[in-house]
Amino acid sequence: MRHLISIDDLTDAELRRIVHRGAEFSAGSARRPAPLDGQVVGVYFAKTSTRTRTAFSSGALRLGGSLIAYGPGDLQLNTGETTEDTGRVLSGMLDVLVARTAGPEAELRGWAQQNTMSVVNAMTAGEHPTQALTDLTTLLRHFGRIEGLRILYAGEGNNTAAALALALTRFPGVHLEIRTPPGYGLAGTVAHRARARAARTGATLVERHDMDELPGGYDVIYTTRWQTTGTSKPDPGWRDTFAPFQITPALWATSPRAVFMHDLPAHRGEEVAAEVLDGPHSIAFAQATNKMHSAMAVLEFVRTPAKAEEPAAAPDRTLAAAR
Ligand code: CP
Repeated sequence: MRHLISIDDLTDAELRRIVHRGAEFSAGSARRPAPLDGQVVGVYFAKTSTRTRTAFSSGALRLGGSLIAYGPGDLQLNTGETTEDTGRVLSGMLDVLVARTAGPEAELRGWAQQNTMSVVNAMTAGEHPTQALTDLTTLLRHFGRIEGLRILYAGEGNNTAAALALALTRFPGVHLEIRTPPGYGLAGTVAHRARARAARTGATLVERHDMDELPGGYDVIYTTRWQTTGTSKPDPGWRDTFAPFQITPALWATSPRAVFMHDLPAHRGEEVAAEVLDGPHSIAFAQATNKMHSAMAVLEFVRTPAKAEEPAAAPDRTLAAAR
């Protein structure tokens, strides 16, 4: 068994394997070995979720597993039981724990200090790794490749942006342009790790704190909700700071072929104009469906012994959806 707590826990080959497998599930071409037969998956969400919780629940059931779901008020964590004791007890009863805490990653790392129950990060304060895996699966399905794509991310440098930066910089030729409001950029450690990776692979990562001088020619324009789940902004004027970063149809003047992506949930009229989210360039709802396909790939990955795996698959252009 394995854990998936950060994108940085994955080797390049493991990341590619999960993304490729997710695209196979999405394309309907995956062989179904039902790797979760007889296994029990706990799905613990201390914060709200529509996509990730449903994706892992539906994915686990489709792979032959059984499910126990815990909402924010269910575990004795609420009455003062320690996270250590909670993890120790759950690891004796569950095969996988998919957890959204919106707290520090260290909590999940603590739960992963055993070798019976796989721990999957369904979002912490710092990173949303299964979102990035979904997004790369969606890119592979749409473009047939990830290498060489030009991607504009505009909005908060939140946990989704962090995971995207750590994942996309694995791919040669990717140009990731991150535009974040002043004071809302990528965490310094994330930017440092992503830049180091980009230097190794030949990707580029640019971060600026305005929407001026955008070079255009993007393949993808991506944003997220300005109020990340489980967070609030102390600055009462934050909406004014974010306003220039709204995704509007004007951005397509210099990127006419770009697709629009959004991890959802969305607030039309805030981070994205309704005519973009609901318009012809948007693949945001296909992206949402891919959360389930990618979750299935993640569940397979964490329950498959490394030595049982086949070599990493080469890019498969047949996985690209017809456009
Ligand atoms: N994008 C995402 O994580 O959606 P949910 O919060 O609905 O799971």
